[in-house]
Amino acid sequence: MSDSDKVLSSFTPDIKEEKKAVDRIFRVAIVGTGWIAESHARSYLHQPDVKVVALADLIPGKAEAFAKEFGFTDAHIYLSHKDLIAHETDLDAVSVCTYNRTHAECTIDLLNAGFNVLLEKPMTVTLDEAVAIMKAEKKSGKLLSIGFQPRMDANMQEIKKIVESGALGKVYYIQTGGGRRFGIPNSTFIEDKTAGIGAVGDIGCYSMDMVLNAVGYPKPLTVTGYMSDFFGKNPEYQRPDKFHTAEENAARFSVDDFAAAFIRLEGGIILDFRIAWAMHIDTPGDTIILGTKAGLRIPSTDCWNGTVGGPMTLYTDVGGLHTQTTIPIIPPKEPGLFDRKIRSFLDAVATGAPAPVPSSQILYNQAIIDGIVRSAKLGREVEIEIPEI
Ligand SMILES: NC(=O)c1ccc[n+]([C@@H]2O[C@H](COP(=O)([O-])OP(=O)(O)OC[C@H]3O[C@@H](n4cnc5c(N)ncnc54)[C@H](O)[C@@H]3O)[C@@H](O)[C@H]2O)c1
Repeated sequence: MSDSDKVLSSFTPDIKEEKKAVDRIFRVAIVGTGWIAESHARSYLHQPDVKVVALADLIPGKAEAFAKEFGFTDAHIYLSHKDLIAHETDLDAVSVCTYNRTHAECTIDLLNAGFNVLLEKPMTVTLDEAVAIMKAEKKSGKLLSIGFQPRMDANMQEIKKIVESGALGKVYYIQTGGGRRFGIPNSTFIEDKTAGIGAVGDIGCYSMDMVLNAVGYPKPLTVTGYMSDFFGKNPEYQRPDKFHTAEENAARFSVDDFAAAFIRLEGGIILDFRIAWAMHIDTPGDTIILGTKAGLRIPSTDCWNGTVGGPMTLYTDVGGLHTQTTIPIIPPKEPGLFDRKIRSFLDAVATGAPAPVPSSQILYNQAIIDGIVRSAKLGREVEIEIPEI
């Protein structure tokens, strides 16, 4: 075996078959029947042991149409998560697929009502909301997992394995983020009243999760953040959607389309972050993790969907020589990432295993986002203080 093969084999993924709990039927509800709820619905339909029994959406007729489209013919339909909670007592799990601004309210109410929750990302808009969710989670004793499906990707898991193998030595600097040359979404993503945060919450949270999860989610200490909206407010960079012209979408635009930050993490790690929905460059750089023994380059994806964009490169010195080892992409395999996200949540509900993506980790992701927003408003570095939960 050559030296580079030895390096590669030490990172070979240990993919175990996911254990399925087949001896029960999960009674599931979906709150918010918009775009991402469709992926939840499809993944629930792929599970042999799930029945979707209730749906809720604030827009009259929307949940009914959703039920029809996915064949949830006998599902109970409600006009809000509160109505659903008032009437449903026997649910094993609820997907919260609402826009960011109602994540906290829905999740807290559902946990308080005694339901296990799979909450879409980003966990919340503010740190206070994330803390309030975790308090409800702790008090209820129910399971809460946050919907970061890239965590289920073998390539993402590989990054963590490489860091944990010690091959990089002490990690001291991480650059992450990326973004799109032109990819501003529309719908409820672009208004403060529904989304609360823009690119930083939509795709920035993924890039932070990629690296923070790899290095064990160290506590963030300080943040110097910057946010801008030069593209979203310009009709030339907007697109029409089902309900709005490009001009209307530019007028509605009230979140960030670009964010950058310099973050100090516990353990002496610097996180250098940038994310864009639109910019005048193809990419502001790959993700890199620098350690005292080696460095790792992780190519960005074009749209920043939170996964690995191509073979990674490990840079190190061997016998006085600068070497580079290519770490090939692990091809996707069935089931897909979304099905794994749903399955791992259900299995944790059934077995009492820890949440696949625990709120205790994503709290730090939210604390950084909250720090970026505060720092950008104040125009200076801010401290991050996380209350006791
Ligand atoms: N994991 C992923 O890959 C992924 C992809 C896209 C979006 N998302 C996340 O999913 C969430 C939803 O995004 P979307 O594009 O589906 O939004 P959307 O606007 O299409 O759908 C959200 C729906 O929630 C409903 N809603 C809001 N508050 C409610 C309440 N209290 N009770 C019942 N219904 C309520 C709204 O009426 C709306 O129909 C966002 O947080 C987004 O970041 C995740």
